[in-house]
Amino acid sequence: MRVVKTTEATINVSFNQVSDSYDILIGAENLLENTLGEFCRARVSSQTKKICIISNPKVFRLYGEKTQKSLENAGFTVAHWLMKDGERYKNFATTEKALAFLSAQNLTRDDAIVALGGGVVGDLAGFASAIYLRGIRFFQVPTTLLAQIDSSVGGKTGVNSDFGKNLIGAFHQPRGVLIDLETLKTLPRRELAAGFYEIVKHAALADRNFFAQTQGFLQKFPLQNFKQNFARRSGEEFLSELQKLISANVAFKAQIVAGDERETTVRNDSNSRKILNFGHTVGHALEKVTNYKMLKHGEAVGFGLLAAAQISNSLGKLPKHELDLFNEVLLSVGKLPVLAKISLDEIIAAFAHDKKASVNSFKWILLEKLGRAAIVDDREIPRQLVRDSIRTALKI
Ligand code: NAD
Ligand code: GLY
Repeated sequence: MRVVKTTEATINVSFNQVSDSYDILIGAENLLENTLGEFCRARVSSQTKKICIISNPKVFRLYGEKTQKSLENAGFTVAHWLMKDGERYKNFATTEKALAFLSAQNLTRDDAIVALGGGVVGDLAGFASAIYLRGIRFFQVPTTLLAQIDSSVGGKTGVNSDFGKNLIGAFHQPRGVLIDLETLKTLPRRELAAGFYEIVKHAALADRNFFAQTQGFLQKFPLQNFKQNFARRSGEEFLSELQKLISANVAFKAQIVAGDERETTVRNDSNSRKILNFGHTVGHALEKVTNYKMLKHGEAVGFGLLAAAQISNSLGKLPKHELDLFNEVLLSVGKLPVLAKISLDEIIAAFAHDKKASVNSFKWILLEKLGRAAIVDDREIPRQLVRDSIRTALKI
């Protein structure tokens, strides 16, 4: 396999309260194969003998062997357990099966778990790690773009239930995150786009430089050429720019999470962890009304971002030229699916059950301007403005 010398980046998430700090290693030198074992070895105790990889059949077929070998080369005994692929399996029943496997393997509190896969595997494996023997170490090895830039960092773990999406879970920080960019070579285009919508979310919340960096990347490396870019002459530049973009995302998320690890309910400032839910009010509602089947999570967030940006502008916050720029960059990722037969009333009804809802109301995460979030109580926004904005943004 071709080895591209892209500088590795290590980003550290440090907490001064609840949890320990950890490293996020990002690079393209076949980290999975060459580095993972030593990365984990350096972050466990001398008592750690065994590692259980939790993955799914698709990802394990692609990357399981490399992962296992790398861990074995570092002296671990390695077992693996595969969950079924898909959001609908991110639930209690699957978690119980995973826990039964860990127990049958006699995994002890000195041992560890490696989550190898996208956000679904990462959330479920992280949750199993949080509750097995009251919590054991785990490592995130994210293999989707969305998991690399978002879900693998920050310690939110959990599963879906009859009460709603992600409502059962725990904050449980990983011991480390290893991001091997080469895994994105095999990711389907729609999954890549889903990750890029979340990148635009981070960039719009963070600052103008990060936003310009994202805009520039999408212009220079359109998504339709993503796979070829790994192989082209320009591959080194592509990998280097991709690595910088993912590092910027991870650094931004790490900074927000470090400042507000548990998403303090009373915090409503522009640096609180709540801002990472930008786009999620309408996004979650859309996932719900389409039974979690029609849209990828990142696509639903993409629609939610368009709606939240429009509300921001209609409320006199985000200026029109910034709204236009935001929409242009978001849509340069690629076309969002067509929302056929979804009614505005259904979407609005679904907000009431959004998990961020408090007893009487909930907060919208909006943009004051590009680079600055505003958290606004739903009761402060006229109903008609919300309706008109969503209709305009989603073209429904
Ligand atoms: P996913 O985990 O379902 O992965 C998408 C698809 O890509 C799956 O079919 C998977 O098998 C496949 N896949 C994974 N890696 C691949 C690769 N390298 N090559 C080919 N195929 C590959 O979806 P996702 O978008 O990664 O994650 C979505 C989940 O993440 C949702 O459940 C969402 O709630 C959660 N999430 C959690 C957080 C958090 O902070 N914990 C943040 C954002 C999203
Ligand atoms: N994805 C939102 C968060 O991690 O807080």
